[in-house]
Amino acid sequence: MIQGRVEPGVSPILPANGAPRPERPGDPCLLVVFGATGDLTKRKLLPALFNLRSMGLLPAESAVVAVVRKPLDDEAFRVEATEAIGRFATGPVDPAAWADFRARLHAVSGDLGLAATYRELADRLAILDSQLGTRGNVLFYLATPPEVFAPIVARLGEAGLTRAGEDRWRRVVVEKPFGRDLESAVALNRDLRATLREDQIFRIDHYLGKETVQNLLVFRFANGIFEPIWNRRYIDHVQITVAEELGVEGRGGYYDRAGVVRDMIQNHIFQLLALVAMEPPSTLAGEAVRDEKVKVLHAIRPSPPERLLATAVRGQYGAGFAGDHALPAYQAEPNVAPGSRTETFAALRVDVENWRWAGVPFYVRSGKRLRRRDTRIVIQFRRPPLLLFRDAGLADVEPNRLEILVQPEEAFAVTMKAKIPGPAIRLQEVTMSFSYRDFGPIAQATGYERLLYDCTVGDPTLFHRADMVEAAWRVVAPVLDLWGSLPPRDFPNYAAGTAGPAAADELVARDGRRWIDP
Ligand SMILES: NC(=O)c1ccc[n+]([C@@H]2O[C@H](COP(=O)([O-])OP(=O)(O)OC[C@H]3O[C@@H](n4cnc5c(N)ncnc54)[C@H](OP(=O)(O)O)[C@@H]3O)[C@@H](O)[C@H]2O)c1
Repeated sequence: MIQGRVEPGVSPILPANGAPRPERPGDPCLLVVFGATGDLTKRKLLPALFNLRSMGLLPAESAVVAVVRKPLDDEAFRVEATEAIGRFATGPVDPAAWADFRARLHAVSGDLGLAATYRELADRLAILDSQLGTRGNVLFYLATPPEVFAPIVARLGEAGLTRAGEDRWRRVVVEKPFGRDLESAVALNRDLRATLREDQIFRIDHYLGKETVQNLLVFRFANGIFEPIWNRRYIDHVQITVAEELGVEGRGGYYDRAGVVRDMIQNHIFQLLALVAMEPPSTLAGEAVRDEKVKVLHAIRPSPPERLLATAVRGQYGAGFAGDHALPAYQAEPNVAPGSRTETFAALRVDVENWRWAGVPFYVRSGKRLRRRDTRIVIQFRRPPLLLFRDAGLADVEPNRLEILVQPEEAFAVTMKAKIPGPAIRLQEVTMSFSYRDFGPIAQATGYERLLYDCTVGDPTLFHRADMVEAAWRVVAPVLDLWGSLPPRDFPNYAAGTAGPAAADELVARDGRRWIDP
């Protein structure tokens, strides 16, 4: 049995954003994975597809076709997949369920630059379609390095494989990174759209598959008490923190070319920011949510370089400790260039210039090798207008705040003041909180199930749209330009296992604020 199988009333595939949606299986389809010998496929995609099939959300009329460069037949791919499931399944594997799924795995191998490979793929898809009744629907998943996203899509187009019809769909999932700057993102979007319509492109962000992230919309728009105070009149500022305890974990080569702004802030953090700041959409279906999210990104004021010197902080970790355990410096990690100037930490002040948020700073920060793993959103409300408790020696009452915890704990908490029982007026901070654990056991999942399911039913809500990607790059471009032209003088400037560089504290302290940490 799959561990934590769906409890009555609690599904790992909750309807997105609270939108009522019957839990029907996805459409019959073939799932074609490019890069199927890679880490992502083994660690996430195969376990997620297996979970979906076990939950009945991937129909019997479905199969997976790996397209690989090395010689690999169906049986050899099935052996590799069985080994991967043995390592990365999210729960105990039911042998009958695995036998059913294993038989659905197929492989086509060849040079991905040659038209012949795509002709062979087309032939194989046609055979499987007629055997299984997949109605001509195909989902192509690009789990390859980004350099080959556009060439593969072009070849698929030339082979006629991306052509949708009245009663059949063709969709393509694109993995991040969506470019490494504005120019390359625009070029990638242009290249993809030379073959595909925008509604065929599913730019996937595994962060948006997390329950708490999806629940942000439920929290905001299904609870009437917060929306009236969700604005500049009542909110002082917002903090978004994505802190990682881990270092670059064998991905030094990739990370050294990226850095935290490209790896984390431009995509995941800006998506969280957009969910917090967006206006209520007119509906939770189709494009309405994405339309509102992109408006937030367009409303972020671009900062001139002289202002960025005060509103953008970068850092890189040096050697440090986690308890007694010594941690290496970033520059000593494998495949990181000696003397690297890549930032492993960044903190930014972001100003959303619209009617709701003018004057309310959003402070965002993210880093590697920090003290603890912690992703949280803090909404700090304004101070009470009168300090009535000054005479009781309480000149400075901390304002209320709402904290939305995304990982490792999934919860939300409101912090308030309460009087400690007794004759004197003494206040204490108390919290009202809810943890998603209180829902009872929630099925273990990879985080990709929900997103893959949405691809098979054609729901783009949780995926990046071209204009969102470009708008987010426009915001970080001045930061990257400035940092590119002004080499850091103080790297490494924080020790591994600490809270990050002191300059990040100074960034908020200049505005009379402080970071809220667990
Ligand atoms: N791993 C994750 O958790 C994760 C998370 C988020 C996003 N991503 C993104 O997902 C993609 C795949 O990541 P990964 O970690 O699985 O990488 P990986 O382990 O390096 O695997 C890359 C895969 O792409 C294939 N490939 C490499 N160069 C190719 C080329 N020139 N033409 C065609 N295929 C080629 C490889 O095939 P060979 O075996 O033939 O070399 C392999 O199957 C990347 O875009 C990455 O940014 C990964």
